[in-house]
Amino acid sequence: MFTIRPATPDDRAALYRICLETADSGADATNLYRDPLLVGHIYAGPYLTFAPEFTFVLEDGGGEVCGYVLGVADTAAFEERLEREWWPRLREQDRDSAHLPAQERTPDERLTHLIHHPRRADPAVLAAFPSHLHIDLLPRGQGGGHGRRMMNRLFTALREAGSPGVHLGVGTRNVRAQGFYRHLGFRELAQTNGGITMGLRL
Ligand SMILES: CC(C)(COP(=O)(O)OP(=O)(O)OC[C@H]1O[C@@H](n2cnc3c(N)ncnc32)[C@H](O)[C@@H]1OP(=O)(O)O)[C@@H](O)C(=O)NCCC(=O)NCCS
Repeated sequence: MFTIRPATPDDRAALYRICLETADSGADATNLYRDPLLVGHIYAGPYLTFAPEFTFVLEDGGGEVCGYVLGVADTAAFEERLEREWWPRLREQDRDSAHLPAQERTPDERLTHLIHHPRRADPAVLAAFPSHLHIDLLPRGQGGGHGRRMMNRLFTALREAGSPGVHLGVGTRNVRAQGFYRHLGFRELAQTNGGITMGLRL
């Protein structure tokens, strides 16, 4: 009933919607943000644009996209490319909120701050785990083994591209996803502000 297939440019709106509907530690964040596209601009859009070969979607029986896994083989090269070709346009659209103390920023301003000051992956992590990924399934796609199947699909693509390892970031509050990643063999590499970096050798 559910199928996994490579993403196409026509999936962009679905990716953005799913990204938003899972952005509150795995739950729907639609009511958290005034601009519904901001989270997708950071965590979904650039992957479909620059790494479509590592972007897969989950389709339900009705042909609706209800999940995705996406990533890149070379995180450092991807970050460089975003600096040149992705962030500039978005930075023109929304001004930097760096002048505001972090605790006074609205949820939207926290995201626009990230657009102006994107987090760069730690080179020590990249040495062994140069790839990274994001996975998000809507509730109807969860708990049925699709997450594991989608991760395996991406792992195969990354291995074929010669990657030795993949890392990801998960929020401290997203305990369910942490359990899922550990169950798949990821181990904790570092604790960051509000999150955990995990890695898996491919
Ligand atoms: C987290 C998520 C990707 C997991 O996908 P899923 O389809 O629900 O998980 P699956 O059904 O494929 O589970 C795969 C395996 O992991 C296990 N598992 C799942 N969650 C687990 C948990 N919290 N602790 C331990 N094991 C877990 C399952 O029992 C299953 O085991 P098996 O294959 O050995 O029988 C999915 O629930 C999701 O998208 N959640 C909302 C968005 C989100 O939080 N994304 C992550 C952001 S960092």
